[in-house]
Amino acid sequence: MNSPNSSLNRRQFVTKGAVAIAAASLAPSFQLVGMDRSARKTKVVMVGTGTRGIHSWGTELVGPYKDYVEMVGLCDINEKRVEVAKELIGIDAKTYHSNDFDKMIREQKPDIVIVTTVDSFHVDYIVRAMELGCDVISEKPIATEADQCQRILDTEKKTGRKVNVGFNVRFMNESMEMKRILSSGELGKILAIDYQENLDTSHGASYFRRWHGKIKNSGSLLVHKASHQFDLVNWLLDADPVQVQAMGKVAFYGKNNAYRGKKCRNCEFTNQCDYYWDMTKDADDMKLYGNCEDVDHYYRDGCVWDDKIDSYDTSSVQVQYDNGTQLTYTLNAYLPYEGQYICFSGEKGRLDVRLNSRQPWDAPAPFEFRLTKDGETTKYWTMKPNSGGHGGADERVKDAMFKPNQQDPTGQKAGSRAGVLSSMIGIAARKSIETGGVVNISDLINL
Ligand SMILES: NC(=O)c1ccc[n+]([C@@H]2O[C@H](COP(=O)([O-])OP(=O)(O)OC[C@H]3O[C@@H](n4cnc5c(N)ncnc54)[C@H](O)[C@@H]3O)[C@@H](O)[C@H]2O)c1
Repeated sequence: MNSPNSSLNRRQFVTKGAVAIAAASLAPSFQLVGMDRSARKTKVVMVGTGTRGIHSWGTELVGPYKDYVEMVGLCDINEKRVEVAKELIGIDAKTYHSNDFDKMIREQKPDIVIVTTVDSFHVDYIVRAMELGCDVISEKPIATEADQCQRILDTEKKTGRKVNVGFNVRFMNESMEMKRILSSGELGKILAIDYQENLDTSHGASYFRRWHGKIKNSGSLLVHKASHQFDLVNWLLDADPVQVQAMGKVAFYGKNNAYRGKKCRNCEFTNQCDYYWDMTKDADDMKLYGNCEDVDHYYRDGCVWDDKIDSYDTSSVQVQYDNGTQLTYTLNAYLPYEGQYICFSGEKGRLDVRLNSRQPWDAPAPFEFRLTKDGETTKYWTMKPNSGGHGGADERVKDAMFKPNQQDPTGQKAGSRAGVLSSMIGIAARKSIETGGVVNISDLINL
């Protein structure tokens, strides 16, 4: 996967083509499979059986939600990995190669297709699943290019099917607290937001070891990672982004080093590289990736110094919203500590939020809030996450998606429009970085 001509990339393009051709040839005569699921369990299949799929939409779904959900098919471009996934999830579902995606839908007749592949391929499965009569749950980002976003919106309208996006960040305790304060009106109109996303050399580097480091796979971290944060701001403000300008570069990883290898396991620079990672110590990683890499050359411990890396590790983005709020967002992926610092400047005061993840000082609590009304009035409080994946948010997303009669007073369950708007900020930012200009989102997509 490290070179554009690697066998995985070639196979991925073959698969893309296969999906498109199948769509053209089968669409007219195909029996749609969407069904009324009011009186029975929801039947789901998953495409993309990597870590996120196996855990959040696999083991954490099939056991705890067994009264509501039945997983009947698993699909991946790597025929070995999909078998390991089946074993790790511990289900009896039938497995399929991604070339047989249509066959899986035909045979298993799922209600919902869960899409957890590499980001740039989400669109193919989202669109095809809807054409075949299924609803979709897609991992973020919904898509990595403007034309992909348009295809998804258009297909949803044409087919009447529904795409939901797994924006778990909306369901985190700290996000719900921010929503509560902003919705209360205590700060008045929010005029500006400063959002620092600080990734340390553990989390940050993990993206540059894998497919995320190439824009053609992930749309850059401004799409892959920041789609979470852009969606959070869109949701908190209940407003649409309209204009974007940005700066970004690969300032730390990639070609910014004197030496490089292909993967840590057989690298000649193991002793001198600060980013050497021994994946052989993780039995599941070896099973799922190391032992399957002969099929697709997907190296889970790829080199952070790969000189083909083009996803920015240093970026700043400015966004103008249709309600007049201005957002300044920065993402730096090589810092000595990890966390976020978010400031909401309102007409009647300011909210400072610190999300502490990993830092070499004693943070008073995982989440710190300070609301300041004037030079004399300030209130400080702390919060912590729940247990479970992403501070309990992964479970809440699944509640919203699968449990019947769920209340949603703040609109946390995200559809395709929210998915598209969050991706479009990153896509417009990339265009701004390439052109040096200000980019209007309405010039890139018809919502
Ligand atoms: N919401 C969250 O907090 C969160 C967290 C992690 C990952 N994610 C998202 O989940 C998705 C998967 O991430 P991951 O970390 O599991 O990645 P991964 O690399 O571990 O897994 C991706 C899987 O997709 C398969 N794949 C690649 N190209 C394919 C194709 N054309 N057709 C079918 N399968 C293909 C790979 O073989 C692999 O099994 C990504 O979209 C990512 O953005 C979301």
